[in-house]
Amino acid sequence: MRLEGKVALITGAAMGINGQTMGFGGAASWMFAREGAKVVLTDILTGPGETTAFQIRESGADAAFLHHDVTNEDSWDKAVRKTIATYGKIDILVNNAGTASVSKLDELTVEAWDEQMGVHAKGTFLGTKRIIPEMRMSGGGSIINVSSIYGIVGSYTSTAYHAAKSAIRVFTKSVAVQHAADGIRINSIHPGFAITPMTEQSMKARPDSLSTQIATVPMNRLGTAEEIASGILFLASEESSYITGAELVIDGGMTAA
Ligand SMILES: NC(=O)c1ccc[n+]([C@@H]2O[C@H](COP(=O)([O-])OP(=O)(O)OC[C@H]3O[C@@H](n4cnc5c(N)ncnc54)[C@H](O)[C@@H]3O)[C@@H](O)[C@H]2O)c1
Repeated sequence: MRLEGKVALITGAAMGINGQTMGFGGAASWMFAREGAKVVLTDILTGPGETTAFQIRESGADAAFLHHDVTNEDSWDKAVRKTIATYGKIDILVNNAGTASVSKLDELTVEAWDEQMGVHAKGTFLGTKRIIPEMRMSGGGSIINVSSIYGIVGSYTSTAYHAAKSAIRVFTKSVAVQHAADGIRINSIHPGFAITPMTEQSMKARPDSLSTQIATVPMNRLGTAEEIASGILFLASEESSYITGAELVIDGGMTAA
């Protein structure tokens, strides 16, 4: 029980239905619940989010779903208030919600740029800013921001996604420095290519992309949502008690090559 007695809020956690491909947030919700945490799953997708939370409760753990748009400040306020009204505190925040965008610079619109910066950079900023006073009051906490290897390196497409995910990377270090003395640890996760509902969708649109992606990975396969969730769990748990402002790359060796 690595998270016994802890309360966690995980954004973008709807895709965690048993028997279906899970997203990182859904897989992390199951893993956190198995490790003894009370888990609040949030997302803009109510149906799958309610089902995932119900299935976690059926397994004997404590979980709830909240409809929550990470780009909206009032929505953050409601999610945090409801979580604290239900469970009394928040020890762990996982800023995981996200969307994909594959435009090259010359096809990138202002709307697509704003959408990517909104869900990734602004969403992570709003959540971190709203949760810090609560964690400070309860004596500390752990925040895990889900960036990407695309927040570290560039590529031939996904221009706005790169910009938004790299904003998360150094934002994380900045707030980690500011709040280390409050007992709050803040780290970023940088997954490589992994199989989730998001990537399944883009592979349907571009079937050749799977072999192209695998060819860039020394381990010669994509990652699983569980392999990414394991890293999130490590940073949430006391096993990482001396780690803050760090970036954990989980990419099968891709960025090492
Ligand atoms: N799958 C990969 O290969 C990969 C690699 C690196 C990083 N990531 C990042 O990991 C995170 C999780 O992605 P995933 O692959 O598990 O995909 P996913 O689609 O399963 O999860 C993303 C979730 O975020 C939710 N969401 C989108 N906009 C939202 C908003 N405004 N407010 C609240 N929720 C919102 C979606 O409804 C979805 O449930 C994302 O931030 C993604 O960019 C994914």
